[in-house]
Amino acid sequence: MTLKGILNADIGRGTIDRNIYGHFSEHLGRCIYEGIWVGEDSAIPNTNGIRNDVVNALRQIKIPVLRWPGGCFADEYHWMDGIGPRESRKRMINTHWGGVVENNHFGTHEFMELCRQLECEPYINGNVGSGTVQEMSEWVEYLTFQGESPMSALRTANGHAEAWKVKYFGVGNENWGCGGNMRPEYYADLYRQYQTYVRNYDGNQIHRIACGPNGDDYNWMEVLMREAHRFMDSITVHYYTVPGLWENKGAATGFTEAEWFETLRKTLFMDELITRHSAIMDQFDPSKRIGLIVDEWGTWYDVEPGTVPGFLYQQNTLRDALVAGINFNIFHKHNERVRMANIAQTINVLQAVILTEGDQMILTPTYHVFDMYKVHQDAERIDLTLDGGAYSFEGQGEIPAVTSTASKDGAGKIHISLCHLNHLASAEVSIDLRGLASESLSVTGTTITADKIDAHNTFAKPDNVKPIAFTEFSIKDGVLTVSLPAMSVTTLALA
Ligand code: AHR
Repeated sequence: MTLKGILNADIGRGTIDRNIYGHFSEHLGRCIYEGIWVGEDSAIPNTNGIRNDVVNALRQIKIPVLRWPGGCFADEYHWMDGIGPRESRKRMINTHWGGVVENNHFGTHEFMELCRQLECEPYINGNVGSGTVQEMSEWVEYLTFQGESPMSALRTANGHAEAWKVKYFGVGNENWGCGGNMRPEYYADLYRQYQTYVRNYDGNQIHRIACGPNGDDYNWMEVLMREAHRFMDSITVHYYTVPGLWENKGAATGFTEAEWFETLRKTLFMDELITRHSAIMDQFDPSKRIGLIVDEWGTWYDVEPGTVPGFLYQQNTLRDALVAGINFNIFHKHNERVRMANIAQTINVLQAVILTEGDQMILTPTYHVFDMYKVHQDAERIDLTLDGGAYSFEGQGEIPAVTSTASKDGAGKIHISLCHLNHLASAEVSIDLRGLASESLSVTGTTITADKIDAHNTFAKPDNVKPIAFTEFSIKDGVLTVSLPAMSVTTLALA
């Protein structure tokens, strides 16, 4: 298959917000406890209780923003249970996720310390479903108020005299479901009320985030925008890629070729979803002041056999690498509206970038795609049109064989990323390079691929799937020709 495209290097399409490469970490399974927090007395090397290997790996991919404490957990979380001496913190039941005891050892101070170590923006999700306006208001005061006040005094007594800066604050999570089973009209009113008391203290400017729809619930988006758009800076959407049915989602490894195809077909729905939600947002916010945050995205499979069902632990294969790349290409395309996206979830849960087992840690194929795509963070998207070709499998419909994106960074370097979805054949892509001096260009490349659709990394073979240098390209007469391996994600740098 030969595909043709045009790159207009001098036609900019706006900035690709670095927050599109954001993460979500919930008190769920082994994400926070073991994945991040091991405690100061742990034999696992840590800094202030937070494991060093994980922090180093996340810093490498430049994680820009981290959402916490949930998820469904957020609307059951009472932040005051997670401050003060750890040994006397309240022990609660994590009802959503396995019914395990939550000892609250990882709370506000620990989360802010994690963000400090990661050098990322904290994104805190407040409790609307079972929390009060006062509780939310006091959390913001505790976090950000520097002067004399009850919450500032409490924070100082707990060892942190200096107020933190917190930019992103979510007012409830999935309030259409686990966050209170509300109707959009009711939540819109509550949103207006709660956000009133999310104050900007001492120059800290909070970006207020409203809970948006479940996938394609366009009515929820319309009601929220109509009733509350004046009071929000962003609104969220959650969409998971589930290859099968909710009751039988499909396995993370050992899946069929048909499931490979179906997973990629379903993840491509993200494009339609964003297009339609954006059209509704445009009616109420034509100037695009309000951002659309893809707050939870990624694959959701059946849990690994023998693991706790409520812990949502799943392996991560080359298929997940494709899902990540395809979604990034879609988010870039919608960069005017999509200003943040948070993969669910960072470690040991759903489409994780890192898996841990005791003191061991492995990087997943998804991690490697985050690493390969970090060059697009805060770069200018440039105009790349590509005939994506067609890929079909055993009568399951037709999807593009290749999806793509391109950007120019601050130093003028151009990056092109290409996802080749077809698992059976290679593809040749010819891109007409316009708006740049192609004679003097030097090109380098990286690709991630494998010989099996479910290739993955294990603790015994941590480097089974990883990016390798890519050289299957040439430039002649201003045309860049690339030979893409079957089922691969490739990034090229042109300088
Ligand atoms: O990411 C797992 C769960 O999925 C989150 O807690 C919830 O917001 C969503 O339903």
